[in-house]
Amino acid sequence: CALPIWELTMPPMILDGNAAASHLRDALRQKIAALAAQGKQPGLAVVLVGENPASKVYVANKARQTKEIGMLSVEHRLPAETSEADLLALVEQLNHDPAIHGILVQLPLPEHINAEKVLESISPDKDVDGFHAVNAGKLAIGMNALVPCTPLGSVYLAKMYRKDLSGLHAVVIGRSNIVGKPVAQLLLQENCTVTIVHSRTKNIADICRQADLLVAAIGKPLFVGADMVKDGAIVIDVGINRVSKPDGGSKIVGDVDFDAVKEKTAAITPVPGGVGPMTIAFLLANTLRAFELSEARTQ
Ligand code: GUN
Repeated sequence: CALPIWELTMPPMILDGNAAASHLRDALRQKIAALAAQGKQPGLAVVLVGENPASKVYVANKARQTKEIGMLSVEHRLPAETSEADLLALVEQLNHDPAIHGILVQLPLPEHINAEKVLESISPDKDVDGFHAVNAGKLAIGMNALVPCTPLGSVYLAKMYRKDLSGLHAVVIGRSNIVGKPVAQLLLQENCTVTIVHSRTKNIADICRQADLLVAAIGKPLFVGADMVKDGAIVIDVGINRVSKPDGGSKIVGDVDFDAVKEKTAAITPVPGGVGPMTIAFLLANTLRAFELSEARTQ
């Protein structure tokens, strides 16, 4: 056979988000230690309203990792019946607090609070989620912005397999403001040809099969099957879906049917342990970035 064996078959690279996030936190820890030597400390405030169990776990993880790399972590846990006015007042106080460089209001918020109004009240300079219209607009026109964490983590993992994404056809499944739209913007900046598909798209499977890089961000468990994936594609699974098991328990699965798809791919993220851990790592990176921007403004 003239073909070397490595052209016939290669195992997929499993893109390990736990290892990548740990590597990123090590780099951040070093930078924060250097700042500490100058008597400086970036600070992140996380605001949780109500008792959503998943949100409580996320917020506890964010606070633990923030402290663990040497940043200041301030948690505000407010009761579910907190008024919108009280929440806006807290955000305003944090906007003016010189010890706080990043503000994150955990979503979802209770129904009686207008989430858009709250997110827009966060100073764009402290908007470490990158959800403010100013940051979304800056990202869209290629200006320096605070960029949403999950999209950053997704692109980072794709680039672990292939540094240069230029010219690839990237297909993003989902058009949310939190993931779909910003990840499409980042991939455009990486010189991909970007297609976004969503619930009203015709022939989703046909389009996905054309993807060199497939990003699944729709929140539908195991939506992407082997029939939707091109041989040798890079597959990034943003989904975190809790599903019941036959034995009565539950488990977390992604938007991609990992077991069905993985042998077709060149590289794929697992769930859990893929994009999820990267989101918090980039939240910490964004907080350091917001700190650096604030230092630059005062010089
Ligand atoms: N809820 C789930 N993910 C996120 C996130 O990335 N940011 C915020 N603020 N809330 C979330």
